Amino acid sequence: MKTSSDLDSEKRQAALKATEFVHDGMIVGLGTGTTSKHLIIALGERVRAGLKIHAVPTSHDTAALARHSGIPLIESDNAWMIDLAIDGADQVDPAFNLVKGGGGALLKEKIVAAAAKQFIVMVDHTKLVPALGGSFPLPIEVVPFGWGSTARHIETASGGKAVLRQRDGNVFQTEAGHVILDLHMPNIDDPAALEIELNQIPGIVETGLFIGRTSILIVGNGRRADVTHARGS
Ligand code: A5P
Repeated sequence: MKTSSDLDSEKRQAALKATEFVHDGMIVGLGTGTTSKHLIIALGERVRAGLKIHAVPTSHDTAALARHSGIPLIESDNAWMIDLAIDGADQVDPAFNLVKGGGGALLKEKIVAAAAKQFIVMVDHTKLVPALGGSFPLPIEVVPFGWGSTARHIETASGGKAVLRQRDGNVFQTEAGHVILDLHMPNIDDPAALEIELNQIPGIVETGLFIGRTSILIVGNGRRADVTHARGS
């Protein structure tokens, strides 16, 4: 049985491998979460040793750690030319589709992944699942106005149960001022179809489904980090 420190080592292993894809002159999208923290710390060491990159952060926490690590950030919102976005995930299915948003940063994460030429996903081995959903609820970012009605529409469309995310006894608020509904449902048979269906519902800002976006998957498994290129990338 692996402990949480074993899993953290796997995340670090995957993150260190991901840094090998980062080269001088690149603009890099930096993800959010514990795996991304390992990435940012390792990239910071390389920057202090002379690596020349600029980064686009996907959350305030990531921006703060990147600044602290000496990684220059692109502060402007002008159209970015991101070479590579690198991020963690909550679940990865055999087609490399993802559930993300456990940390609540899914909106910026998806915008940055969509703006990048390549999207590298780094995970520990427990994130690999035969099908998305089931054990991990799907985060959906919605506007606070009418969230109860939005939740009802989501439940009708999915057959699941949409629960308003709380943190420390308060309603969790995203950096964009929205709320998160965590959709509990059995395995998602057709994630692409569900994403299309959810995107029709007024009030939904973004879902945590990342369909067909992964270019490269890196999995830490304790012995090494396995790198697999997605079909077609
Ligand atoms: C942040 O909102 C999430 O999408 C994270 O990328 C995801 O939850 C993975 O987090 P860990 O790297 O902490 O497992």
